[in-house]
This record gives sequence, structure tokens and C-alpha cells, in this order.
Amino acid sequence: MKISVDQLIQEASKLPPIPKAAQKALALIRSPKANAADLAGVLATDQVLSAQVLRWANSAYYGMENRIVTVQQAIVVLGMNTIHELIMTYSVSEQLNRAAPGYELQRGELWHHALGTAIGAKLISKQLRLKFDEEAYFAGLLCDIGKLVFEKLLRDADLHQTEWDQHSFLEMERGIFGLDHAMLGAEMARRWQLPENLVETIAHHHDPHNAGSHQLLASTIHVADVSMMILGIGIGVDGLRYPLEQKAMQRLGLNGDDLIRLVEQITTQLDQAKELIKLN
Ligand SMILES: [Fe+2]
Repeated sequence: MKISVDQLIQEASKLPPIPKAAQKALALIRSPKANAADLAGVLATDQVLSAQVLRWANSAYYGMENRIVTVQQAIVVLGMNTIHELIMTYSVSEQLNRAAPGYELQRGELWHHALGTAIGAKLISKQLRLKFDEEAYFAGLLCDIGKLVFEKLLRDADLHQTEWDQHSFLEMERGIFGLDHAMLGAEMARRWQLPENLVETIAHHHDPHNAGSHQLLASTIHVADVSMMILGIGIGVDGLRYPLEQKAMQRLGLNGDDLIRLVEQITTQLDQAKELIKLN
């Protein structure tokens, strides 16, 4: 089943879009002129999103002393970076929180894997003072977005054929579609006009040594992704059929004990994040 990249992107465009107000809010936050009043104005056009922002600001997670009653207050007390992260997470959850039968994933598995990878990547960036906390979070969140397109097409494929036994899942995707979910995800990110470091990192989250000047960021996502596999979250038909790049750990200066600690920290923070970004 060889399909052109354009056809695959066409499929990607059929995915439910990020709500208009969220798109506008995200664009505004990324602009250097962003201020709380303008952002509150954009969020006010979407009742669901405004209500969410207020709920986040008043959640036990942030432990504010006084009740936050306006969206503008919420933006000021949480800060632009946190609001950026929360709106992006909430928007992506709408896309990722679904079953992916093509990968034999139940509803929630793809989503929790993405959220945990984002959290893990940010933790690594913070602890090693790599100074790309936000980028790491977003790249972790989006690295498997290409799976959303493939999973529909994989539903009809027989993935248990022995001809694929000796191959990694990425090789199988390339064999079936001509490209793998990392390459497709990167192409989707490019067309959404996400920054180059995110595009390259998504493209190489399974082979960070090929990420050129973004090797460190890609290694961060790779290790966070591996941590989620160790936790057994979001493992479907592709299971553990991904090559692990030992050098990614070395590049970050992490050892096995660090990895175990990271997995524990992700577990705690993932539970908190799931509670914060409560989905129906
Ligand atoms: Fe992946």
C-alpha cells in the first residue's frame, strides 16, 4: 500500500481541527506582543475554553490562596508559558484521546503515552538545565501524532504476518506506507508551521543521532518515550518493537538509576496532569 505524502497529509487534514479560539490563542501567545488582556479577549469567544482556564487556575494543583474569578486573572497568575502548555495539551487531547484500533490501542492509551512523554521530556530538560523545557514538552506531546493517520490505514493490514517479525515497527510502517509515523508527524508539524526544532525532533524521536543540531532535544524525547514504554503505557501492536538508542542516554549523561527515578517521577506527575486536564 504505497501512498504519497500528499495523500497522507490529506488524511491528516480530516482529523478534527483544533478549535478556532484555541488556534487564535496559541498564535497570540507565540507572538512577542502577547498580553493577558488580548489573550483573555480571544478566550472569551469560547466558553468551554474560558471555563477550562478558570478551572485550571483554581485547581488544587496550583494551590492559589484566593479564588480566581476572571480569565485575565488566571492568565496573570499562571503565566503565559503555563497557559500555552495547558491550551496546547487540552487541544491535542481532543485529537489523541481516542481508540487507535490500527495500533490495537484502547481509548486513552495514545493520549496518556503522549502526555507522559511530554512530562518526562520536560522533567529531563529541567533537571539537566537544558533550557528547552517548553519545546521538550511540546515535542513529547506531538511526537506520535503521525500515528493518528496511519492507524486508520493499518486497520485493514495484517500486522501479525511473519514477514514483519524480524523488523522494527518503523521499518514495517516504511514498508507499508513508504514512510514511518515519525516522518509523517514531522511533515504534519511542518505544515502547521511549527518551529523547525519541533519538526526535526518529531522526525527523529526514534533515531535522535540523525537529528543534526537538535540531537539533544531529540534524545530527550527519545528517553522520555522509552520511559513510557517501560511504564507500559500506550503499548499496542507496535509494543516494544522500536530500536532503543543507547547513545541517547549517554548524550544526556543519564544512567539506569536515573531512568528508574525518571519513570517514578513521570508516574506521579502523570496522575496529577490527568486530574488537571480532566477529559470527558
Ligand atoms: Fe513514535
